[in-house]
Amino acid sequence: MLAAIRQTTRVCSRLASPHASSPAAAAAAAAALASSPVLGSGMSGLERQPAPTVAGIGGTTGRSRGADHPPPRPCSSSGESREGYQWGGVPYQRQPMPHHRKVIAGSNHHVSGASCSSLYQQSCRYFSSSSDQERIRAGNKLISDLPRCVKIVEVGPRDGLQNEKDTVPTPVKIELIRRLAASGLSVVEATSFVSPKWVPQLADAKDVMEAVRNTEGVRLPVLTPNIKGFEAAIAAGAKEIAVFASASEGFSKSNINCTIKESLARYNDVALAAKEREIPVRGYVSCVVGCPVDGPVPPSNVAYVAKELYDMGCYEVSLGDTIGVGTPGTVVPMLEAAMSVVPVEKLAVHFHDTYGQSLSNILISLQMGVSVVDSSVAGLGGCPYAKGASGNVATEDVVYMLNGLGIRTGVDLGKVMAAGEFICKHLGRQSGSKAATALSKVTAKASKL
Ligand code: HMG
Ligand code: MG
Repeated sequence: MLAAIRQTTRVCSRLASPHASSPAAAAAAAAALASSPVLGSGMSGLERQPAPTVAGIGGTTGRSRGADHPPPRPCSSSGESREGYQWGGVPYQRQPMPHHRKVIAGSNHHVSGASCSSLYQQSCRYFSSSSDQERIRAGNKLISDLPRCVKIVEVGPRDGLQNEKDTVPTPVKIELIRRLAASGLSVVEATSFVSPKWVPQLADAKDVMEAVRNTEGVRLPVLTPNIKGFEAAIAAGAKEIAVFASASEGFSKSNINCTIKESLARYNDVALAAKEREIPVRGYVSCVVGCPVDGPVPPSNVAYVAKELYDMGCYEVSLGDTIGVGTPGTVVPMLEAAMSVVPVEKLAVHFHDTYGQSLSNILISLQMGVSVVDSSVAGLGGCPYAKGASGNVATEDVVYMLNGLGIRTGVDLGKVMAAGEFICKHLGRQSGSKAATALSKVTAKASKL
């Protein structure tokens, strides 16, 4: 595994500075990118905060929200400090087109990807020098070293719908969960047992859970922020739960109204109660790269919170780039820190796609050995209070990429696309999935022939 990290770090160094002529120059460029990346370069209207140290985590007391303050929306921080807060942009760079062996647009939208060996043979015909071939071999190894199977954790019914302005009718949520389960997804996060004052969109958690609790062949975890939520979830038939902490104090306070330390104490109680009933607990760490309140988040904060969650019994810890600012340049050091304290097979990645970086972040995570990826059907989600923040990476796009890499997911892309069409129709909007949009056009054209 160490070798995988080293190799990925090397690739990252090259990515960070394609012009670096020596390993030292490349390492310096990678370090510069990691410590002062795209993040913050374009911040305006908000002073960059000094990054909290691990020792500093949890030291402060949460600012209490007065009754006159409306509860913030999920995934967001409190109002003013976010105003004018901008993450710097990256100049667009053209990338070579991916090679696809074939794309069959049929009723099931089956998409098959490139095979590593045929790609390798094709490439060898065009490049003949030994250094070229060495590079091809290295590239080929990067693909062949990827995990053979990836577990996708679908979070659309929870993360995707929690920010909707208009409440989605309960029967629509139930139908969405059923369709997603029928597509082969083995985990579908169904809802949250949180305060309805905070997240009115999921106030029907009990009804949703009671309706789907016996769906076969799928696990349906639900978010629980405290013992009250845990008990309500169990009473409604939940068989798995998730707790959610933050790597940044600012987001912890705005999201769950307590410090990181206080939240971990709460989750410890939940984990103990869950253990007594043999209920598996998944853990989230939010703001693993950047926070809408505190700015860039040091990897050591992520490692601290991830380890705490793992040590309290979370069977898996999902690392969330809540506002989608991460790039491979910041994701690699964050993952290295998390992997140094939690086994990589217990880690998942959870990328929101605000800056369109999710797929590259997922790919680099897979190269580092991660094999669990969270995603949201049709890219649902977003945060009205975090300027410009968007939903999770679309499940359809992840499945399309993994199919192209020959990685098994057990998910039927056509069925997920149909579930995406179903919910987008109800929400009256276009899918946020590029793959679904493109494949729908191909299918529509083919049906006219
Ligand atoms: P609070 O206001 O600090 O707590 O909320 P409280 O304990 O004083 O309770 C206030 C009221 O809420 C009381 O009701 C409680 O009974 C009630 P009142 O007496 O005023 O009528 N209450 C509850 N009701 C139902 N279920 C509960 C519950 N707990 C208290 N479980 C609390 C604290 C944590 C509850 C609140 O802040 C909250 O619900 N926050 C949830 C925020 C949330 O859901 N955010 C989105 C999910 S996180 C996310 O999206 C990130 C993630 O996707 C990963 C990533 O992207 O990085 C996971
Ligand atoms: Mg999320």
